[in-house]
Amino acid sequence: MGADGRKAIFITGAASGIGLATAKRFAREGWYVGLADIDAGGLKAAREALGAGNCGVHRLDVRDRAAWKKELAAFTKGTNGRLDVLLNNAGVAHYGWFEDLTDDEVDRQIDINIKGVVNGARAGLDLLIGTPGSVLINVASCAGLFGAPKMAIYSATKFAVKGLSEALDLEFSRHGVAVRCIMPWFVDTPILQAGSQGSNEKIADTIRQGGSEVYTVEEAADVIWKAAQGKDLHWIVGKAGKRLRFAARFMPGAVRKQLLSMMDPV
Ligand code: NAI
Repeated sequence: MGADGRKAIFITGAASGIGLATAKRFAREGWYVGLADIDAGGLKAAREALGAGNCGVHRLDVRDRAAWKKELAAFTKGTNGRLDVLLNNAGVAHYGWFEDLTDDEVDRQIDINIKGVVNGARAGLDLLIGTPGSVLINVASCAGLFGAPKMAIYSATKFAVKGLSEALDLEFSRHGVAVRCIMPWFVDTPILQAGSQGSNEKIADTIRQGGSEVYTVEEAADVIWKAAQGKDLHWIVGKAGKRLRFAARFMPGAVRKQLLSMMDPV
């Protein structure tokens, strides 16, 4: 069964967390959803949750350029060529001091979080151009607003996604394609359990020590839903993120001090 004229969104990292919640939200709003992920079991569960008639399932590693072309072609075969939103959401984190990450952990974050997003934008552009009013949405992070200790590589990848989104929003305006960048504060998903081989600590430990706010996946999905219809380029998830954006701009010294005190609490 195909999209039947419904609006169509293709979501990477759709088997879990923010991607899955966003898939459910768009399906509830009457959209047809392409669920893409490397997690076959998670995809199967996601398909059941959405209802088979509301989605197509795509095994896709965002690092694989050829697979991107193949899966987008398969998805849009069922949507009559339509791609209203491409959501580059898949991402990974490794947590720990810069020198304690393995080379593989460094590469994995750069390859998935940056190159995966670039691959998606390049593979999807023609389909987006062919769909009036289309939007490319990239998920960055509040770690792309101010460099976060023990997440240096992750932060760097999210600064890259933010910069890429800003540049592409300008470039793609030539084609009538809008670009939106989502910057969530901490959201309650399995990524908060991310650690690294060189550290026993997880992101969740720092959140607990720092007493930070954590938002729900539904709140993140709501922001993405609004971003798909809205005019702004940058979309923050969570009040704590909005406070950070303000502080990073107008009092970066205070942000630095706070991050230093959170780094190694005694
Ligand atoms: P999650 O771990 O729940 O979901 C990530 C999904 O991406 C998983 O289903 C995973 O299988 C998939 N994935 C991983 N590598 C992949 C690959 N190579 N190809 C295709 N799929 C792949 O994490 P969450 O939190 O839902 O993350 C979604 C996005 O939100 C990520 O880009 C993350 O960096 C970003 N984000 C998350 C925050 C949080 O606190 N949860 C905060 C800020 C940004």
